[in-house]
Amino acid sequence: MKTILWATLTANGNYAQSSPENPPKPEALQDFAMQAGAAGNFIVGRRTFMGMLESSQGIQNEQTGNPFAGLDIVVLSQSVKEIPGVTVVESPQAALAYLQARGHTTALLSGGADLHNAFLAQGLVDEVIFDIAPVFEGKGFNLLLDQDRYLYKHVQLLDCKPLGSGVVQLRYSLTR
Ligand SMILES: NC(=O)c1ccc[n+]([C@@H]2O[C@H](COP(=O)([O-])OP(=O)(O)OC[C@H]3O[C@@H](n4cnc5c(N)ncnc54)[C@H](OP(=O)(O)O)[C@@H]3O)[C@@H](O)[C@H]2O)c1
Repeated sequence: MKTILWATLTANGNYAQSSPENPPKPEALQDFAMQAGAAGNFIVGRRTFMGMLESSQGIQNEQTGNPFAGLDIVVLSQSVKEIPGVTVVESPQAALAYLQARGHTTALLSGGADLHNAFLAQGLVDEVIFDIAPVFEGKGFNLLLDQDRYLYKHVQLLDCKPLGSGVVQLRYSLTR
């Protein structure tokens, strides 16, 4: 199973946070929908998933249709046991095992920071896709990896391309 971490970063190197006043760039959202479609799934933290449900860009948006119809959506949570329409699991390993059992060969990690850091810290990420938005954000989360040492010793740039409206995509492979 190949695990791909997808995240939007700000131009000043923070982990981008979105809100109604600071929505994600449409190019990044389109890219996420494309990557999720290619993988056939995504794994998401409970807080980000709740935000997706509430957002006008969310899964329930009837005007724009449902870009995630037919995807296996796996929500990571230890506080919630069931959410209609998605699979809830308690750990990164359980999420990957579930998708593997469903026949997926790639898992897409859609965020947020807690979820990304949990997978990174356990050495469970094979590739990262960073969409760098032309935004400077003062507050922000970080992708901490392991705090004391380099867990991923080999990082190779696989691709670099503009997505439009100043968003640039960097894609790296990670090897421990
Ligand atoms: N930059 C980006 O690409 C990007 C992508 C997505 C979201 N975001 C931003 O990220 C923010 C939300 O991120 P967040 O870090 O607060 O929350 P999150 O990662 O979306 O969700 C955190 C929750 O997921 C569950 N979880 C996380 N790691 C787990 C683990 N190892 N085992 C079991 N459950 C686990 C826990 O749920 P329970 O509390 O239910 O146990 C935890 O409270 C928002 O501001 C959003 O805009 C940014």
